[in-house]
Amino acid sequence: MPYNLLQGKRGIITGALDENSIAWKVAVRAKDEGAQLVLTNAPIAMRMGEIKKLAEYCQAEIVPADATSVEEIENLYRKSQEILGGPMDFVLHSIGMSANIRKGRSYGDMNYEWYMKSLDVSALSFHKMLQVAEKLDAIAEYGSVVALSYIAAQRSFPDYTDMAQAKAMLESIARSYGYRYGKLKKVRVNTVSQSPTKTTAGTGISGFDAFFEYADKMAPLGNATADDCADYVITLFSDFTRKVTMQNLYHDGGFSGVGISEDIVDKMGK
Ligand SMILES: NC(=O)c1ccc[n+]([C@@H]2O[C@H](COP(=O)([O-])OP(=O)(O)OC[C@H]3O[C@@H](n4cnc5c(N)ncnc54)[C@H](O)[C@@H]3O)[C@@H](O)[C@H]2O)c1
Repeated sequence: MPYNLLQGKRGIITGALDENSIAWKVAVRAKDEGAQLVLTNAPIAMRMGEIKKLAEYCQAEIVPADATSVEEIENLYRKSQEILGGPMDFVLHSIGMSANIRKGRSYGDMNYEWYMKSLDVSALSFHKMLQVAEKLDAIAEYGSVVALSYIAAQRSFPDYTDMAQAKAMLESIARSYGYRYGKLKKVRVNTVSQSPTKTTAGTGISGFDAFFEYADKMAPLGNATADDCADYVITLFSDFTRKVTMQNLYHDGGFSGVGISEDIVDKMGK
């Protein structure tokens, strides 16, 4: 049920590849809550993706941008302001990619060119999106910027390899830029640390099914779905969270607070 939480707000949503994408769910919820949107993704992803269907539902325009390119991000903000008629009230960074994970490289056998690419695509792109926004003054006062993270930033998950460093960097950028942008323009910057979620990026990690199930059995509320995540992100875009910034916010059904659960004890006891 919509509450008009984003009535009159303008925003950019990155990273909607298909209807399983977390960004897809956020876009649908944001539209339903009254926001006007611009959708974006890497040009290559749009050739294979279904983003046009989403754009139709959201009555949104699509502006392609590779998030590693400062020029393309500049174009994204310029066009978005033209299309939506003013600065953004919210921006979602929902971008992640590791060629090392895709190609099944172990943590002791990293390809360093790919490693740098993982950091550029999955973390540095967040800084680029913030720095370009600041320079173009493309985010309104009390605007909200959210990026999606994972608990491998704090704990060891062997198959997450170089993405663990990317997420640690992403969360650090939220703190550093959150301070700066808060002082400058009262813009909030946060990361949401989401449960394992069945998306293209998620299921590409080897052993995904096992740690999806493990996390589900550890968390007292069970794993948070992509739809749950969208609901949470909408609150962070709304005016109800105007003093929340520089935080890494766990959205994981309680997983991050649990040492061991009865479900796991029962399973191990067998
Ligand atoms: N799925 C999970 O288990 C999970 C858990 C926690 C956090 N996350 C994070 O959520 C975010 C969204 O991932 P998802 O699970 O919805 O998967 P997804 O595969 O649907 O989305 C990842 C998106 O990143 C985009 N992307 C990749 N390279 C890009 C580039 N150079 N420029 C612009 N866009 C680019 C892809 O096109 C895709 O749309 C990622 O940051 C991911 O790490 C996912």
